[in-house]
Amino acid sequence: MDIAIIGASGYTGGELIRLLLSHSRASVVCATSRKLAGKPVTSVHPHLGGFTDLSFSNPAVDAIDADAVFLAVPHTAAMKYAGDLVDRGIKTVDLSADYRLPKEVYETIYEVPHTRYFTAPYGLPELHRDEITGASFIANPGCFPTGAILAAAPLASRARTIIFDSKTGVSGAGVNPTATTHYPNVGDNFIAYKWTTHRHVAEMRMEISRLGSAAKCYFTPHLVPANRGILTTAHVLLDEPIEQEEAEALYRSWYGDEFFVRLQKPSLATVRGSNFCDMAVECEGTRVVVVSAIDNLVKGASGQAIQNLNLMTGCRETDGLTGVPLVP
Ligand SMILES: NC(=O)c1ccc[n+]([C@@H]2O[C@H](COP(=O)([O-])OP(=O)(O)OC[C@H]3O[C@@H](n4cnc5c(N)ncnc54)[C@H](OP(=O)(O)O)[C@@H]3O)[C@@H](O)[C@H]2O)c1
Repeated sequence: MDIAIIGASGYTGGELIRLLLSHSRASVVCATSRKLAGKPVTSVHPHLGGFTDLSFSNPAVDAIDADAVFLAVPHTAAMKYAGDLVDRGIKTVDLSADYRLPKEVYETIYEVPHTRYFTAPYGLPELHRDEITGASFIANPGCFPTGAILAAAPLASRARTIIFDSKTGVSGAGVNPTATTHYPNVGDNFIAYKWTTHRHVAEMRMEISRLGSAAKCYFTPHLVPANRGILTTAHVLLDEPIEQEEAEALYRSWYGDEFFVRLQKPSLATVRGSNFCDMAVECEGTRVVVVSAIDNLVKGASGQAIQNLNLMTGCRETDGLTGVPLVP
């Protein structure tokens, strides 16, 4: 498959190129950047030196010649490309938020009109594999929702309240630095931000309710001095207490056959660079604590996007995604 990446100079774009190098059926033929058109991809992704001689380009969307496209651009930019790609029958995975939510919810939460809306499967394969398989367009989930929803899903239908407390590395904010992500604010520091207002809570609520749950769902993110990774502590408050053995059996029944979910003590280091979501569960009467860890740029973005493309195109689901995490 010939692959085009729109937004290839950013963090998730670079990660798509890195991961696709080991895909057996995909090769990147087009990597776009408006600012860097004509420059080698390695000018901003020097870790790919020796692996690619591709240069950035900036073609019009109707000049993109590829079997599949990843939209690795900010929200509102993706909706400018998505409709035309779908019209041309090009399999597309959108890493932005533009197609994850119902239109009215999107417009309220993101405070922008949606100019080219259609519905798309929510690309969390462990929960929506049937809808994703063979689809032509997928809305790839947000990074925080991926780790949070996977952690709470098995217990969601029994829960009355779910509180997600997440810690993220700085690459979650993208390649352009801001005052919040500037080194003096991040190094040797630890902050909570958007304590009650982070946009990703809408995705969490949507998916938790799709699981047949009426649970109230809350989310607070924190920024930690790490480049990659999201550790989420989900406090799941139940109506009835659950025993440790029963909870562990429940998680094994949901995820025992899932290659990318490992039921083991989570940490940022043990998933770094990989498409794994590690999680473990501990019960205290009606409170269950589930902790999950993902790499925000892999299972939280580019890796999951490739997992989705594999399902959309009949490739092996793990193709390009079997790299072992980097520890220490
Ligand atoms: N970072 C994460 O952990 C993460 C996780 C999950 C989802 N996401 C989502 O994935 C998308 C990409 O994130 P990122 O972190 O890779 O962002 P990023 O590092 O800021 O990169 C964004 C890329 O999009 C390009 N771009 C920006 N506006 C564009 C436009 N109007 N048309 C075409 N290209 C445009 C930029 O390139 P030029 O300016 O050179 O053209 C840049 O290459 C975002 O929607 C983000 O919310 C990110």
